[in-house]
Parts: sequence; C-alpha cells; structure tokens
Amino acid sequence: MIISTRALGHLLSRRAAAAPTRVTPVLTARAFADYNVHVEHGRGEWKTYGDIDQYKPGMYQIKCFNKISPIGLAQFPSDQYDIRTDAQEGNNAHAILLRSHKLQEEDVPRTVRAIARCGAGTNNIPVARMTELGIPVFNTPGANANAVKELVLCGMLLGSRRVIDGINHMKDLGQQGLARERVEKDKAMFGGQELKGKTLAVIGLGHIGSQTARDARALGMTLKGYDPGLSVQSALRLPRALELMDSITAAVSDADYISLNIPYIKGEGGTHGVIGADVISHFKPNAVLLNFARGELVDSEAMKEFLDAGDGRYVTDFPDDLVWDHKNAVVLPHLGASTEEAEDAAAAMAADTIRDYLESGTISNSVNFPSTSLPDRPEHTVRFTVVNKNVPGVLAHITETFGDADLNIIQQVNHSRGEIAYNVLDIATMGHEEVLSFKNVQEKITMLEGVLSSRVMYGAPGTGYAKNLDGEYFV
Ligand SMILES: NC(=O)c1ccc[n+]([C@@H]2O[C@H](COP(=O)([O-])OP(=O)(O)OC[C@H]3O[C@@H](n4cnc5c(N)ncnc54)[C@H](O)[C@@H]3O)[C@@H](O)[C@H]2O)c1
Repeated sequence: MIISTRALGHLLSRRAAAAPTRVTPVLTARAFADYNVHVEHGRGEWKTYGDIDQYKPGMYQIKCFNKISPIGLAQFPSDQYDIRTDAQEGNNAHAILLRSHKLQEEDVPRTVRAIARCGAGTNNIPVARMTELGIPVFNTPGANANAVKELVLCGMLLGSRRVIDGINHMKDLGQQGLARERVEKDKAMFGGQELKGKTLAVIGLGHIGSQTARDARALGMTLKGYDPGLSVQSALRLPRALELMDSITAAVSDADYISLNIPYIKGEGGTHGVIGADVISHFKPNAVLLNFARGELVDSEAMKEFLDAGDGRYVTDFPDDLVWDHKNAVVLPHLGASTEEAEDAAAAMAADTIRDYLESGTISNSVNFPSTSLPDRPEHTVRFTVVNKNVPGVLAHITETFGDADLNIIQQVNHSRGEIAYNVLDIATMGHEEVLSFKNVQEKITMLEGVLSSRVMYGAPGTGYAKNLDGEYFV
C-alpha cells in the first residue's frame, strides 16, 4: 500500500489526537501541561510506515528478532511499548532487540534509533554500517557471567575427581550386572584431590574471572590473578586475599588450577595461543587448566604434550581436534552460558539499555557509541540529543544554533568514539514554549553538515526524532 505524505500526515495527526496523552518518565505531567510542547511527526518521505494500520502513535515500537525471554520483555511497560515479536512486522520500530539473528541493513527501518543484542558478541550485526547511520549498538557484557562461573567451578571439580570416568565405569559395570559388587572395590581407580587449600590462578579478572575468584575463595582456595587491564568495577568485586601478579607465567607457576577468562583477540598483540609451550612449561605437572573462554587461546599441541607427560588436566567447553579424547581432558559442548537465567539476564539487561537510551538519552554498554550520561534533566528544560560525525566544528555549530534561537543550554555533554560523536543538551524552556521554536531549531541542527540525527525528548514516546539522510530532512 502506498500512502501519500499528506494523507499519512493527516492520518497520523488524527490518530495522535485520538490517542490518550502519554508522558515519558523524564518529564512530570505538570511540566508537560505547563509547556504543552509538541513535535510534529509524519512529515517527510518515510518509506517505512508500510504497516500504517498497525502503527501505534504515542508508543515506542520494539521489533524483536529471535525469541526473546519474556522476563526481558517484561522490562518494557506495556502502556508505553508496543512489542513486535519475531513473527510480527516491525516496520516502524524505534529499537531492535535480537539474539543470534544475522541482521541485514534491510531489517533496520529508518525509524530505528538503537539496536541491542541479548549477549556479548555483536558479529551478527553490521556494526560499522550502523555507526555510519548514527545508530548505537548495545550488548550485555557480564549478563551470562554467573552461568559461566558455575561451569568453571563444575570444571574444577571434574578436573579433580575423575567423576566422569567413574560414571562411565559404573555404567559398564551396571550393564554386566556387577555394579553392586564392585562399587566399593573399584573406587581406588578414581581417587582425586580437594579444592580446599589449593591455589587457583585466574587469568583475566573481568565479569567471569572476578566472580570465579570470589567463589573459589569461599571454597577455601588461595588466589592469584593476572589482568593488565583490570577495571575499577572488576577490582571492587575481587576478594582481598587475591594476589595480583605481573605476568601470566608468574600467576600460573605454582597454581594447582588455572582459569582462563580472557577475550580472544586475533592478530599481533592479541591472545591467539596465549597459553602456549612457554607458559605451559611453568605449569605444575598436575595442574588443571580450565578454558571456558575460547578454544583458540590454547595451543593444542603444547597442551597435548603436557597432558601426555604427567597427570595434568584440561577442562574446556570448546572443541579441540587434538585432545578431545585424551584421558586427561574433559571436553564439553559449549555450555558456558546455556542457562535459562543467563538468557533472562541478558534480555533484561538489553531491554534496560534500550529504555535508558530511548527515554533519557543515556548510553551504556554500547560497542560503537561513547558511554554517556547526564544528571536528571532539570525542571523547565527540554532534552535534545544529537548524533554527528566526529569532525571538527559540529559542536560549535550546534551550540550556536541554540544561541541564535535565543535558547539557553542549562547543561550538556559531548563525547566521541572513533568516527561518531554524541551530544546531550538540556535546554531551558522558560519563555520559549511555542511549538515552532523547537521544531525549527531541531530542523536547523539536524541539517547541519556532519549531523546524522537528533531527538527532542519530551511528550509522547516515540516522537521527536529527526534524521539527516544525505541532505534530506526526515521527521
Ligand atoms: N564458555 C562460554 O560459554 C562463554 C560465555 C561467555 C563468555 N565467554 C568468554 O569468556 C571471556 C571472558 O568473559 P567476561 O565476561 O569475563 O569478559 P570481561 O571483558 O568482563 O573480562 C575479560 C578480562 O580479561 C582481561 N584481559 C584481556 N586480555 C588479557 C590478557 N592477555 N591477560 C590477562 N587478562 C586479559 C581484560 O582486561 C578483562 O578484565 C569472554 O571474552 C568470552 O570469550 C565464554
């Protein structure tokens, strides 16, 4: 169905008039009534209002790809958010929520302000192209950390007690009808050691590593750690008793257990094969290496030599073509984050991140935009956000445009990351309540050289967005 711009504008204004007034959480009802500011929408050649019959003015539309946990979706208040599932159209989406769907540019209508992945990796999203379009991509770092940490703890136990060999042995005996007779006699074949009092070296003390260290301490282990890029947040989660070392070899050299919790980074200075012959030569002969980070971090040949030589163990949830059937290796399916709770936590975190961005302009956990937050918007202000290319002079032009319109900036932040810059500005409304003053200033700012999009954040959810698409103004 093709709708003319005029008919579309008419339809939208009729629907908007019929819709109950909704107020975003950042503006009190009183302030809204005081200033009665509106932003016109529906102008421009929106090609994405294809399902105009389903368009709900006054609501943010969230398009989900994949099945997203209902616990995550419950973060969106139903009176402000129109959730479109995987099976439904989402042609007017304000944000996209997805898990493993391989997102194409065609999946992203021009109305989209943000994309969030329920999970840590974003290689199923064309992030570089989204940056060019001025769309932040979010992920959920650490949402699955508890799930992985629990499997690391399980791995420590599996590496200590030959539990799996014992289970297999009992199955064999059971089939022969000998289980009852041999259950006591054969236990000597599967002796092991306890975790209490042993030393654990944690390589990488981020979300997973810091939680592993904390729980290992509760099990009575001595802790060493290595992380040259330790963040303040992770440092605060570490047990006091952990001794920070200045190299991987120093951390592993007297460790009984070694947990690898670092990212895989290809190329020079990266982490490919970081656990190679050199590091392994510092392992105790019976050390247990736990790799729930990435298979490529460990040099398989060097690991095989180590396993052949002594009574050391390798426990991992990544495939390994050389040691998969070694008697001293425990190779599991990639189960680290496979829990219901991790899926719920990732979806809830992604939903919160989207809400923060749509409702207050805050950016956290973005893989392509700078982390940005402002204090709460002061009373009698309107919040503007502007996304622009990170080139000299744009900020000056933005502030000049507000000045020319006789609008006073009460507070502002400007952050950049790579090719993109993001501005949040709170503008005093006193004496400038008329609709036109904001509408015109938004158009001028959006059409400045280098600006990609702008938002005026008040009034009905979903309104106030404008884009500069190759020199054409879309609202
Ligand atoms: N097995 C699974 O299912 C599963 C699930 C989630 C994550 N992971 C893996 O676990 C890794 C860690 O996850 P996280 O959430 O803790 O990540 P994180 O980003 O919170 O922590 C990683 C830490 O490693 C440190 N680091 C980076 N390079 C290092 C190096 N060469 N030596 C020592 N420390 C180094 C960083 O400074 C950071 O503190 C991820 O990169 C991912 O590959 C696996």
